[in-house]
Amino acid sequence: MPNIRSVTEEELAAQRAVMDRLAEENAALPTPPVAWVDTYGCQQNEADSEVIRGMLREMGYGFTESEAEADLIVVNTCAVRGHAELRVLGNVGALSHTKRARPNQRIVLCGCMVQQEHMREKIKKSFPYVDLVFGPHELWRFPELLERMLRPHRGRIFEARQIDGERVEGLPVLHAEGVRAWLPIMSGCNNFCSYCIVPYVRGRERSRRPEVILAEARRLVEAGYQEIYLLGQNVNSYGKDLEGNEDFAYLLREIDRMEGEFVIRFMTSHPKDATERLFETMAACPKVERHIHLPFQSGNDRVLKAMNRGYTGEIYRAKVACARSLMPDIALTSDVIVGFPGETDEEFEDTLRLVEELRFDMLFTFLYSPRVGTPAAAMPDPFTREEKQARFDRLLQAQNRISAEMQAAHVGKTYRILIDGEGDRPGRLTARSSHNRLIHLEGDKALIGSFRNARITDSTTWSLSAVLTDNGTSDKEEL
Ligand code: SAH
Ligand code: SF4
Ligand code: F3S
Repeated sequence: MPNIRSVTEEELAAQRAVMDRLAEENAALPTPPVAWVDTYGCQQNEADSEVIRGMLREMGYGFTESEAEADLIVVNTCAVRGHAELRVLGNVGALSHTKRARPNQRIVLCGCMVQQEHMREKIKKSFPYVDLVFGPHELWRFPELLERMLRPHRGRIFEARQIDGERVEGLPVLHAEGVRAWLPIMSGCNNFCSYCIVPYVRGRERSRRPEVILAEARRLVEAGYQEIYLLGQNVNSYGKDLEGNEDFAYLLREIDRMEGEFVIRFMTSHPKDATERLFETMAACPKVERHIHLPFQSGNDRVLKAMNRGYTGEIYRAKVACARSLMPDIALTSDVIVGFPGETDEEFEDTLRLVEELRFDMLFTFLYSPRVGTPAAAMPDPFTREEKQARFDRLLQAQNRISAEMQAAHVGKTYRILIDGEGDRPGRLTARSSHNRLIHLEGDKALIGSFRNARITDSTTWSLSAVLTDNGTSDKEEL
């Protein structure tokens, strides 16, 4: 059994007291300090950064996007692949110059990457100008750590308890402006896919209480967000660690029933826990968008077993068939790893076959990246980088063709779209259809945040073009 406790009211009150103290001090300054929060990795990390911003706001900080202007830089890091870590390290390396130009600047590193001991060692050795480092389990203690960093103290601060995780509620959140709001419903992961670092850095699965999630969803809708994005590493196992019977389908249904014009999306579903009940619920809930991201990782059963994914190619196909039979219009996207240790050419062909057969709307393809301490990193890996890259390129080519064909099939159709931002040129807008396709169109900025009808006029591999038809009738059914 994982060892998980709840953070107490007293502990949270102590953090609030720190926030009040710093807010008072910052209010007495001629100009308030400004912070830049830079985020890498997945939406969970985006959501954590919104908590960091929420706390900073309570402490009287303003915000900037410029590292040169910032009094405080917080880099929220990711560890999922070597590439993600290299980007963080490269950018943190560049901060030595900004700090030289602004010696009072303080630099903080947090998030998944720094939960790994070898990374903390690297930071100690190679980045002497980083002032504070804390892992994901310390997020709720950020005010206390920040205060310690700002007061005279000896040495630099490194905090990353190796724990299963804690339950914590009631932290301040500063949601990004716009159409979409992240709503984390759980944290951590119990699946231990053999290649993946997430369970080691994020701890065990902790579901937030359903009443807390529903209250937050209601608040977000009332605040005017049109897209509520439910987040978890494996949303289908929501609630398994709670006492009640509430599961993910329950959350979808309850949020779907809320008043207001908004839509619901979620990420990520693990195929082993994606059930007919989930698909039935999606089909029955008009506000739940017709899109599911269902990572399959490999089409070969030996590789899937070595990955510890808990399903076979056949089971995966059956789940997709079930989803498509209940929602013929559903968009399907997925993740796949190429070059898992020992994956042979023949085994890769199974992945390619699955991709050709199931025809994903979009596929995120990754070259396997060994992660320190994971079982896969210790498996024999005889294939060269070039051999793996060649497979990767073939897969990408196949998917690009399929994506282009899937996109072209939308041309001529009329969809209800959510206009979510400004486009690349004045007078241009971006939008999303129910199936999460990126759409470019002409229109006035004032339309951002509204649902409209639009006819798809053109397509590329990556996006659609549309014109507004807005006859006032929603023909979402046609989708
Ligand atoms: N919890 C989600 C995935 C989170 S990580 C899920 O299980 O679906 C996002 C994606 O990164 C994974 O789906 C996988 O395709 C990829 N990934 C994770 N670890 C990786 C590694 N070590 N090398 C390459 N890709 C990896
Ligand atoms: Fe990683 Fe697997 Fe958990 Fe996803 S389900 S976060 S791939 S261990
Ligand atoms: Fe990266 Fe951590 Fe997310 S490793 S993908 S930021 S959970």
